[in-house]
Amino acid sequence: MAANNGLRYKDKVTIVTGGSKGIGLGVVQVFVKNGAKVVFCARREAEGKEVEADLNKLGIGEALFIPCDVSKEEEIKNLIEKTVAKYGRIDCLVNNAGYHPPHMPIDDFSSDDFRELLNVNLVSYFIAAKYALPYLRKVEGNIINMSSLVGQIGQFGAVTYVATKGGISAMTRALSIDEAKYNVRVNSVSPGNVWTPMWNSGAQATPNPEKTIENGANSQLIGRYGTLEESGTACLFLAADATFCTGIDLNLSGGAELNYGIKTMRGEKELPF
Ligand SMILES: NC(=O)c1ccc[n+]([C@@H]2O[C@H](COP(=O)([O-])OP(=O)(O)OC[C@H]3O[C@@H](n4cnc5c(N)ncnc54)[C@H](OP(=O)(O)O)[C@@H]3O)[C@@H](O)[C@H]2O)c1
Repeated sequence: MAANNGLRYKDKVTIVTGGSKGIGLGVVQVFVKNGAKVVFCARREAEGKEVEADLNKLGIGEALFIPCDVSKEEEIKNLIEKTVAKYGRIDCLVNNAGYHPPHMPIDDFSSDDFRELLNVNLVSYFIAAKYALPYLRKVEGNIINMSSLVGQIGQFGAVTYVATKGGISAMTRALSIDEAKYNVRVNSVSPGNVWTPMWNSGAQATPNPEKTIENGANSQLIGRYGTLEESGTACLFLAADATFCTGIDLNLSGGAELNYGIKTMRGEKELPF
């Protein structure tokens, strides 16, 4: 048995934004089960507290929920400060909280819609990194930014979202260069379709949810959605094992970016759900 009883991130203090549901929840669960002390945030307190209580029953690692809306700089600052006050260090920051607005052409997005989305999806990652880095540098820790495959390949009716995700992957590369002198690694993860509450509520808003969900699964070569556990495991790999990786964008996509498909939408009157 390994020195840490097989626990791959024992006692490592990790912050996960948007950890009460979806991909972030998968990251929180996998890190706690591997011995980490995980501080996670979301806006809805009751859901966060429930996740915290469930995980602390496991008797491995630790979970601590702190309410925080990542669109507010003061709340992000508070999240970092409370983490350091309780645990005295930060080994890993997983920037994950984000939002995908309904699919629309550019004509239907206002510039304020775009500014708000940039604030939640991109500027929040910058702010959390900025306040966490003084601590990450002390322990040669790492940052993982949840991007998206669509930042590389684009997506219909999602001009603002895709721009925020492209920005995340580009910012990751730039920050990895600056932080290398402190031995802080900065990487991103680009999921394809992972089955989460966000995916489900997006599908329910389409004319034929069942068909949308089926198409979502078949968009991956692997022919299904990614799971929360697979998302957490990919992040654990970057945090715990990938010590020679910095500035990379790890596709967690079931091969969705590969091969030709039927892609033309010329003449289509409806969005291609
Ligand atoms: N699911 C996919 O297929 C997919 C694909 C590519 C990329 N991603 C990316 O993965 C990340 C997570 O997506 P998901 O599908 O897991 O979403 P989700 O199911 O909607 O979960 C989002 C989590 O973030 C929290 N959150 C949302 N807005 C927040 C805010 N302003 N401040 C703090 N917490 C906030 C939510 O809790 P509250 O609502 O209580 O705040 C929840 O815990 C996002 O960055 C998304 O762009 C997802």
